[in-house]
Amino acid sequence: MMTIENQKKVKKLVDMRVTARLGGGQKRIDSQHSKGKYTARERVEMLLDTGSFEEMDMFVTHRCTNFGMEKESYLGDGVVVGFGTVEGRMVCVFAQDFTVFGGSLSETMSQKICKVMDLAMKMGVPIIGINDSGGARIQEGSNALAGYSEIFERNILASGVVPQISLIFGPCAGGAVYSPALTDFIMMTEQNSYMFITGPKVVKSVTGEDVSVDELGGANVHSRKSGVAHFKSASEEECLLLTRKLISFIPQNNMENVPVAECNDPINRLEDALNEIVPSNPNLPYDMKDIIRSIADNGDFLEVQPLYAQNIICCFARFNGISTGIIANQPKFLAGVLDCDSSRKAARFVRFCDAFNIPILTLVDVPGFLPGTGQEYSGIITHGAKLMFAYGEATVPKVTVTIRKSYGGAHIVMSCKQLRGDFNYAWPSAEIAVMGASGAIEVLEGKNIAAIANADEKAQYIFDKEAEYKDKFANPYQAASRGYIDDVIEPRNTRFRVIRAFQALQTKKVTNPLKKHDNIPL
Ligand code: HXC
Repeated sequence: MMTIENQKKVKKLVDMRVTARLGGGQKRIDSQHSKGKYTARERVEMLLDTGSFEEMDMFVTHRCTNFGMEKESYLGDGVVVGFGTVEGRMVCVFAQDFTVFGGSLSETMSQKICKVMDLAMKMGVPIIGINDSGGARIQEGSNALAGYSEIFERNILASGVVPQISLIFGPCAGGAVYSPALTDFIMMTEQNSYMFITGPKVVKSVTGEDVSVDELGGANVHSRKSGVAHFKSASEEECLLLTRKLISFIPQNNMENVPVAECNDPINRLEDALNEIVPSNPNLPYDMKDIIRSIADNGDFLEVQPLYAQNIICCFARFNGISTGIIANQPKFLAGVLDCDSSRKAARFVRFCDAFNIPILTLVDVPGFLPGTGQEYSGIITHGAKLMFAYGEATVPKVTVTIRKSYGGAHIVMSCKQLRGDFNYAWPSAEIAVMGASGAIEVLEGKNIAAIANADEKAQYIFDKEAEYKDKFANPYQAASRGYIDDVIEPRNTRFRVIRAFQALQTKKVTNPLKKHDNIPL
């Protein structure tokens, strides 16, 4: 039987836990709820498997004595940290608690975050950060800034070792944005979630521009315009579920193989509709997502940055249960052309997949790079080079299927054979050439065409020359005759051929030359 002394000790512990769980107090919890926001602990509970959360550092308090801070202290000091499971797989978590000094970052808060990040690295598990903070704790001055730097350094060292995911469920402003920005994925909610380097008031005083918080750094802006956010959700609940889904596709760390789910979708499923999906007129669009749906396990895929640079699709899917990254040009948007934004988007995705051993499937229908001063002045040369670099350095299994157009530099960039594509297939509708027929004939026959005075004769001459060019290049066979394409496949067989190719590549081993690190054209 427990002595009275021991009973008192246990009671003290229980009471302290109750106090800690109240964060900044019931009034502030109510205020958080009234804004449509959950508290840090509620968020962690929703994210993790029920009952799996183990909290650490619940009794940590701040050490600040400026501005009367010694009189106001809360157990846990504004951040909830610990570990738990998602679908049975371990993850580490930190969640800023807005009810304590607005979730602002103190020296001790940063120590708690760093501790759980170090733990994630030791354990080799993903780290998920839930951000809801007024930034550096003003009363702590440079201690808070040093704390941020400690976190940033850990974000950098963890990059490519364990997956890092940032959820933005409140303010994330100033230098504080750089922790999420250094992580692999940023997820935002439509309400209450914003990220910017300087807020509306500073913007007004410096540039005179009137802008609201949402217009400056809300979820819509960052998922459509800036590309800073990778996922946007209507609510916190939806975002937490999405995080669980994302985790299901990725390995725990860079030394692990990709997760394999049970597959009840026949691997040799034929999709007759694919034989008809490409329009006979090469200028007509179709939806590349229909192809992805047709070939992936159960038609399921998770798109990354779905609203940004929609001319390229980046998504996770499964083939025979094996997690796979898909990069696909989207003919429905800008004819699937490569531009600055789509090149950057895809390059980052390719690098994530390669860092975490996720095989890559590339579906190609690309008319080339977008021409014009707008793109050139924005550095399309450097951005296009990023994508080429990412594909060329990637050592994971790479399977490419050319659906229709694959022209010029864009053909090379989109995981061609010579950028170490492992299996490069083409549909019979593929056109692999330096450029499209009309552009080519203009270059090759411009003088001859100009010399023809009669309009009908001119049109006939152009028609004949273009037909000759198409006959030679508007097909996959010239490339196949050289072995640049490993096989021309029937579209309805694509799922089976892709799965077989990845099966064959399971034992692939390729290493890059030893170096400190590469110098990707940033
Ligand atoms: C200390 C803070 C705080 C901060 C908020 N609080 N931000 N305490 N340091 N940075 C406190 C408030 O005093 C208040 O305390 C509680 O948190 C809730 O704040 P409210 O203002 O009442 O909430 P709300 O109206 O929702 O406004 C949220 C807000 C606003 C927009 C975030 O609080 C705000 O503008 N805060 C300052 C933001 C800022 O400028 N931070 C510094 C950025 S520079 P009580 O006791 O009333 O509950 C920076 C540099 C980082 O962060 C550099 C890294 C390299």
